[in-house]
Amino acid sequence: MTLTIRRIRNDFTAEISGVDITKPILDATFAEIRAALDEYSVLVFRDQKFDDDAQTAFSLRFGSLETTISANAGGGTHIADISNVDPATDEIIPVEGWRSKYNSGNEMWHTDSSFKPVPALASLLSGREVPPEGAETEFTSMRTAYDALPDDHKARLEGLIAIHDFSYSRGLVDPALMDDKQRAAVPPVRQAVVRTNPANGRKGFYSGSHASEIVGWPVDEGRAFLKDLVNRAVKPERVYAHKWQQYDLVIWDNRCVLHRGRPCDKSKHRRVMHRTTVAGDGPTA
Ligand code: OGA
Ligand code: MN
Repeated sequence: MTLTIRRIRNDFTAEISGVDITKPILDATFAEIRAALDEYSVLVFRDQKFDDDAQTAFSLRFGSLETTISANAGGGTHIADISNVDPATDEIIPVEGWRSKYNSGNEMWHTDSSFKPVPALASLLSGREVPPEGAETEFTSMRTAYDALPDDHKARLEGLIAIHDFSYSRGLVDPALMDDKQRAAVPPVRQAVVRTNPANGRKGFYSGSHASEIVGWPVDEGRAFLKDLVNRAVKPERVYAHKWQQYDLVIWDNRCVLHRGRPCDKSKHRRVMHRTTVAGDGPTA
């Protein structure tokens, strides 16, 4: 079995072929994949017929897995079900319903679990059923965008701490989306604004939809500053849009990648996507 790593787009996306990751793989093969995640930041695998058990087993090679927050479908498990299909009935969920709205928060540029005290290392998203059109997932690199910052801008970022707040970001979808109990379950957390990958020393900034303010700054000023960072990263020429084929598995490095889901006709097309999320190894700030 020869593993092939082929650059897809820009400096941060690669497609890996020649390996069936739904089956146990050799340590040496896994080490190549893990190293590729540090070298690139988004890894695409095609034709990986995962079920939840196999996806969980492969994901565990990267480290311990996050447990989904209880507001989600299937909350309290390792599988985040971000589908538009209700697993209980196998029917498309109503587009105007609470769950659709909640999931539409994923259409803002974000990095997974930045609202948790220990944010995620990586996410693995498996396309079990994908629509014929639309619903791409877009990615951009906060390392590439950081590298492009003028030196004085980089210097300004050093040592800054941002507040990331899930209630804030979901409030942008609809202020009434979460009740007090749901808000209380996800209190705001502190995150470093600059993060360094310990494997290669590469720095990136760390922002996204959950980033609501900068500690010690006026709220509006911090918010605008964090948003400006996102805007620099999401310039079209810096974005990779992943067009899903059934049984794709995409892995991304949440330490340095922003992503968002794109819309599709959710009343018409089934989209069944299961995500596992690898926990980070400690607080960032
Ligand atoms: C996610 C996510 C976007 C999409 O699973 O974390 O943001 O396109 N998904 O489904
Ligand atoms: Mn996400």
